[in-house]
Amino acid sequence: MTLIPFDDRDGFIWQDGKMLPWRDAKVHVLTHGLHYGSCVFEGVRAYNGKIFKLREHTERLRHSAELLGFKIPYSVEELEKVQYEVLEKQGIKNGYLRPVAWRGSEMMAISAQKTTIHVAVAAWEWPSYFSKEAKERGLKLQLSKWARPGPNMAPTASKAAGLYMICTLSKHAAEQEGFDDALMLDYRGYIAEATGANMFFVFGGELHTPTPDCFLDGITRRTVMQLARNKGIKVIERHIKPEELSNVQEVFLVGTAAEVTPIGRIGEQLFDVGPVTKTLMQAYTDLVSKA
Ligand SMILES: Cc1ncc(COP(=O)(O)O)c(C=O)c1O
Repeated sequence: MTLIPFDDRDGFIWQDGKMLPWRDAKVHVLTHGLHYGSCVFEGVRAYNGKIFKLREHTERLRHSAELLGFKIPYSVEELEKVQYEVLEKQGIKNGYLRPVAWRGSEMMAISAQKTTIHVAVAAWEWPSYFSKEAKERGLKLQLSKWARPGPNMAPTASKAAGLYMICTLSKHAAEQEGFDDALMLDYRGYIAEATGANMFFVFGGELHTPTPDCFLDGITRRTVMQLARNKGIKVIERHIKPEELSNVQEVFLVGTAAEVTPIGRIGEQLFDVGPVTKTLMQAYTDLVSKA
């Protein structure tokens, strides 16, 4: 497969108030966001020309920045408008949007109180995060050696670039051993999430999901909990221990990029792509296509 680099494509990217030719949307090498991780972002999807949960994603972007101590210089309404403008300029009906905000170059040290805040929005076509084949058989997850930090160890409720360092390390380790993704425990040893998606477990027909007290309380996660309740499925949020996996019938991932994706294996343990997963995959597809 030939990779088309993300900095060498046709089209337009909105950056700091201007719609720039794609290849001109750049940052300087001496940028605080690059050196010190003062950067937050969103992953948003559009279906049939409509941006799904746009308000929630846009509010989260601004909130993520506030958790890192900076304020995005555009309102929620302005950022929503920009996202539609980018989608339109790119001629995309079904695709992915990547809003991102970061501290600039005025200061190049730990202290960065006087840096300008930059914002950009890009959009591209991105049909599925996992392959069709992986989705049908269920993903293979490896247990990561990295733990999600506690809320007093990192700003865990922020979708901050720095928090993805251990996700990339975990995902690379998993891929190198033939797995699709990694399951991360938290600092206490409870099941947290995958590297870019939240997790659900079916215990005897009930749907259990880890309490998001040290990782992202995903927008898809909340949507799927509501869809399950609408179908009369009991939903329980609690701390889940890895030993409990032996009592689990079905497992699946949820996220804006991952949508609802079944898991067929965690370590050596196998799971069926069962009825609850199939029901919620369909319910999510129906919801996004009519939204
Ligand atoms: C680490 C992590 N957890 C969870 C999620 C799911 O969040 P959402 O459903 O809001 O996309 C994502 C994806 O964006 C993620 O990157």
